Amino acid sequence: MKNLFVKTYGCQMNVYDSDRMKDSLAPLGYQENPDLQDADMIVINTCHIREKASEKVFSELGRLRKVKQRAAEEQNREVKIVVAGCVAQAEGEEITKRAPWVDIVVGPQTYHRLPDLVAKLDSVQRTHLIDTEFPPEVKFDFLPEQLGKRGPAAFLSVQEGCDKFCSFCVVPYTRGAEFSRSAETVIEEAKKLISNGTRELTLLGQNVNAWHGIGRDSREWGLGRLIYALAELPNLERIRYTTSHPLDMDDELIRAHAEVDKLMPYLHLPVQSGSDNILQAMNRRHTASQYLTIIDRLRSAREDIAMSGDFIVGFPGETDKDFAETLSLIDKVGYASAYSFKYSTRPGTPAAGKIEQVSEEIKSERLTSLQQLLDSQQFAFNKTCENAVFDVLVEQKAGREGQLNARTPYMQSVYFEGPDSLIGKIVQVKVSDARQNSLSADIIHEKEAK
Ligand code: SAH
Ligand code: SF4
Ligand code: F3S
Repeated sequence: MKNLFVKTYGCQMNVYDSDRMKDSLAPLGYQENPDLQDADMIVINTCHIREKASEKVFSELGRLRKVKQRAAEEQNREVKIVVAGCVAQAEGEEITKRAPWVDIVVGPQTYHRLPDLVAKLDSVQRTHLIDTEFPPEVKFDFLPEQLGKRGPAAFLSVQEGCDKFCSFCVVPYTRGAEFSRSAETVIEEAKKLISNGTRELTLLGQNVNAWHGIGRDSREWGLGRLIYALAELPNLERIRYTTSHPLDMDDELIRAHAEVDKLMPYLHLPVQSGSDNILQAMNRRHTASQYLTIIDRLRSAREDIAMSGDFIVGFPGETDKDFAETLSLIDKVGYASAYSFKYSTRPGTPAAGKIEQVSEEIKSERLTSLQQLLDSQQFAFNKTCENAVFDVLVEQKAGREGQLNARTPYMQSVYFEGPDSLIGKIVQVKVSDARQNSLSADIIHEKEAK
C-alpha cells in the first residue's frame, strides 16, 4: 500500500477531479492519507482563475521540494510530485522549468492517463512527464468504474469546458471546448453514488446549464430534462447544479424548478456586473435587465428560490457609475449568498490587453463596499429563516462534540445537537438562531427516505 496525499484548489470541478484521480490511482495501490510527511505521491490539483491562485502553486511546490528531499535523505524513500488541474494546463513545461522536482504535469483533460504516466515514469527513467493534450478520447470513458467513498452530498460532472469566452476568463483555455456527457453515463454514475450512500447530487459543469447530452431516447436533452430523469431515482433526495450562465437558462430548466421537488430552491447564477457597458466589454452577451428578467421568471416558477452570484469589481474601464449600477442590481436581486473578486489580469485573455486598467486602490474600495452590501443581504436572508422548519441533509460531524452539520435547501450551513447515526439522513429541524454564515437549530424528527 502506498500513501497518496491530494491537495485541491479552485472550483468544485477540481474537487470532483481529485476524487476521480484518487479512484484511478487506487488500482495501483495508492490510498489517500492526510499526513503529508508519509506521502509516496503528492498530487496538487491547481486553479488558474486569478493570479493569486496560480502563484500559490509555486510557493506550495517550494514547500513540497523540502518534503521530497527529506524523505530521500532521511528514509531513502522516493516521493512523486504531480501537478494537475488548470495551472498544469496553462503553464505545462514552465512548471518543470521552475520546479524541476515535479515528476508529472497532467491537465484536466488527461488525468485519466495518470496511472499510465506513473507506470511510464517508473519504467523509462525520465526526469519528468508532461501531458496537457486535449485528447480525442473522452476522459470519462477511461476513468475507473469503481468509485471511492463519497459523502452524503456528492458532485457529479456532467459538462466540462466553455465556449463563452468572457474576456477576463481563462477557463475556455484551460478546460477547452464545451463537452456534455450522455444522459446514460450520468445516470449510471448517479446510481453508483446513490448505492454508496449519497443522498444529494450537485451536477457540475463550467457552464452546466449549457449541458446538451444524448438522452435515453437518442434525442438531445437539455439540463432540465436530465434533472427530471435523475429525480426518478429512488433514494436520491436532493439535486442541485452549478455553475450556470444566464444565457442558457431555458424554459424546461425553469419549469423543473417549479415541478421537481427534489431540485433545491437555490441557484448560483453569476452576473459579474450590473453595468451594460461592462457586461458588453466582458463579452457576457446579455444586459443587466435580461438577467433580472431571468430571475423574475425563476421566482415565478419557484417563489422561494434563493439566489447566489459572482461579481468582479475593477474590470478594465469600470467607472464609478458602472460600479453604482452593480450595487443597484444587487439591491434589486437580494442575494442569499455571493462571491466577489477584484479583477485579476490573466495572460492570454482579451481583457488583459486593455489599457484602462483600474487601480488596485479603487478595486479594494469597491470590493469592500460591494461585500458590505452582499454580507448585509446574506445576514438579512439568514435572519428570515429564524423559527423556520427545514428538511436538512446531515453531512458530517461538526467541530463541537455532539454537534452535527447539515445544509438547508437554501445551501445554508446549519448546526444542531444529534447522534452521529444521523449522518447521511434527512432530518427536520427548527432554526433557533441565524448568524452571518450559518444557522443553529434543534431537531424535530428524522425523515424516512423517499
Ligand atoms: N463558469 C462560471 C464561473 C467560472 S470562474 C461562470 O460563467 O460564471 C468563477 C468566477 O471567478 C467567475 O464567475 C468570476 O466571477 C471569477 N473570475 C473569473 N475570471 C476572473 C478574473 N480574471 N478576475 C477576477 N475574477 C475572475
Ligand atoms: Fe469563464 Fe465566462 Fe465560461 Fe464562465 S462562462 S467559465 S466566466 S468564459
Ligand atoms: Fe480554477 Fe480551473 Fe476551476 S481555473 S475555477 S480550477 S475550472
